[in-house]
Amino acid sequence: MSTETAIRARGIRKSYGDLEVLRGVDLDVASGSIVALLGSNGAGKTTLVRILSTLLTADEGTATVHGFDVGTAPADVRRSISLTGQFAAVDEMLTGRENLVLVARLRHLRTPGAIADDLLARFSLTDAGPRRAATYSGGMRRRLDIAMSLIGDPPVIFLDEPTTGLDPQARIEVWDAVKDLARGGTTVLLTTQYLDEAEQLADRIAILHRGTIVQHGTLAELKRLLPPTEVVHVEKQPTLEEVFLSLVGPVPHHEESS
Ligand SMILES: Nc1ncnc2c1ncn2[C@@H]1O[C@H](COP(=O)(O)OP(=O)(O)OP(=O)(O)O)[C@@H](O)[C@H]1O
Ligand SMILES: [Mg+2]
Repeated sequence: MSTETAIRARGIRKSYGDLEVLRGVDLDVASGSIVALLGSNGAGKTTLVRILSTLLTADEGTATVHGFDVGTAPADVRRSISLTGQFAAVDEMLTGRENLVLVARLRHLRTPGAIADDLLARFSLTDAGPRRAATYSGGMRRRLDIAMSLIGDPPVIFLDEPTTGLDPQARIEVWDAVKDLARGGTTVLLTTQYLDEAEQLADRIAILHRGTIVQHGTLAELKRLLPPTEVVHVEKQPTLEEVFLSLVGPVPHHEESS
């Protein structure tokens, strides 16, 4: 893919009342790449994704997505993206297939049935397709939700914690689907608290901490931040977890204070 920038944020600030969540976020995501935004609970990952997807307005700063300014061209941004939120958008009363067909119709696509069947197959939901989504496991619902967000082939996709609550097999299926997307040229910004997910999926990793991106680089670059530890003649590469904890420190589970 080209090195064109699909997502560019500069100096994004956002507070909720007295709580300063984002304090000047700069981020560049190259077209066709997968970037993982890592951060503890409450770090502001969802807030940043909501700003980039025009659901929320920043207090300060600018951002463009697919070349469109989120502040001045929000409709163009919305046409260029899909967002899978932390909470699923699936209609439980409909079958999996009906959910997909509905979205394809809403997007005025010509072959909703074929699009639905293709996505059911890609997400291993063909057998479950005719069943109501209310009967799906959490993992199946999540896969359906991501499949729904891919309808219409948006060039930029935001996935907010795409695999939270999934079993290992379902996570691998979601990872494979995300990798497929990026291979096809789609830009993916995903948030996660799982370091192994970032290691598995991301071309680059951005760590959000205390309101700014404290590090942004490839896994190899982040690992280079820590010197390899010598343990009796065996050279050990630092894990992403060690790098993350050295940057962020062991944090209490709910870090609400600023
Ligand atoms: N609408 C809101 N009003 C007030 N405070 C909010 C609002 N939305 C988020 N916050 C606070 O802003 C901070 C950042 O929240 P955000 O949801 O962006 O974090 P996150 O990194 O996505 O966390 P998680 O990993 O739990 O999803 C948190 O302290 C949260 O309580
Ligand atoms: Mg969140």
